[in-house]
Amino acid sequence: MSKTVLITGASSGIGEATAKCFLQKGWNVAATMRSPTKAGDWATAENVICPQLDLTQADTISAAIHETLERFGQIDVLVNNAGYALMGPLEGVTPEQLHLQFQTNFFGLVTVIQTILPVLRQQGGGTIVNVASIGGRLAFPLISPYHATKWAVEGLSESLRYEVRRFGIQVKIIEPGGIKTDFVDRSTNWVSHPDYTVMVDRMKRFSKRVDASLPGPERVARTIYRAAIDRSGRLRYSPHGEIFFWLHALLPDRIWRSLIETMMLGQNK
Ligand SMILES: NC(=O)c1ccc[n+]([C@@H]2O[C@H](COP(=O)([O-])OP(=O)(O)OC[C@H]3O[C@@H](n4cnc5c(N)ncnc54)[C@H](OP(=O)(O)O)[C@@H]3O)[C@@H](O)[C@H]2O)c1
Repeated sequence: MSKTVLITGASSGIGEATAKCFLQKGWNVAATMRSPTKAGDWATAENVICPQLDLTQADTISAAIHETLERFGQIDVLVNNAGYALMGPLEGVTPEQLHLQFQTNFFGLVTVIQTILPVLRQQGGGTIVNVASIGGRLAFPLISPYHATKWAVEGLSESLRYEVRRFGIQVKIIEPGGIKTDFVDRSTNWVSHPDYTVMVDRMKRFSKRVDASLPGPERVARTIYRAAIDRSGRLRYSPHGEIFFWLHALLPDRIWRSLIETMMLGQNK
């Protein structure tokens, strides 16, 4: 019998590439989306469904999981991929904006995991793949709300791994580096503050410049697939992110921070 993966945020970018990758490997795919009308032609395949799932609406989470179980009978792998970035100076962030950032990237992800865990335990196992970021272990300027959510995902995942391993459930963290998707344009919400304008403009210019030369999401999708079937107990995978972790480990902290600051914000004057 074919295995089944449920993916959040499969309308574009890494989520869509991951859905296509599992589909090519012969899996049943529940490609969940906020707006299923966005699904591409690949989603018309017989073993694909596109349940509506919005991480800010708990009822859509349980309904999407229920629909997947009705259609395919089981869920072997969950890929928590959906997310966006709230960027800009912390002083300019409203409580509502911060709440929505956490609701989407963290609390929504937690609800999906909590809803699926009883299913996986009853089945005797499965794999939970959480898409964090290099920004889940490193931090760059003017991204504090997003970093906070991804660091939270890292901590949750590492702790959860201990408690579910004995039920045959694996937990994996994917930490992509910069990837060319809709992320920088459509999935980044910049906040402003009049006293940080110069800094924000520099960071926006840096981000646009880098975005143009980033790799596409296909390698991340292949890594997610590899992690999903990897029974070795490995926790972290860093497609296109390895170099950042190496540099961070090798350079003295002071040099690393000065490099990041100069590169992203320019000289301090
Ligand atoms: N691109 C990068 O450089 C990069 C690097 C590291 C980590 N990541 C992570 O990779 C994941 C995917 O991002 P991406 O690069 O593929 O960007 P993307 O193409 O913009 O995809 C983001 C996905 O998240 C969905 N989403 C946003 N809010 C949602 C909500 N409330 N409920 C359900 N779905 C929601 C979007 O749905 P709609 O189409 O409805 O908006 C879209 O499908 C994110 O978690 C991101 O943090 C990305």
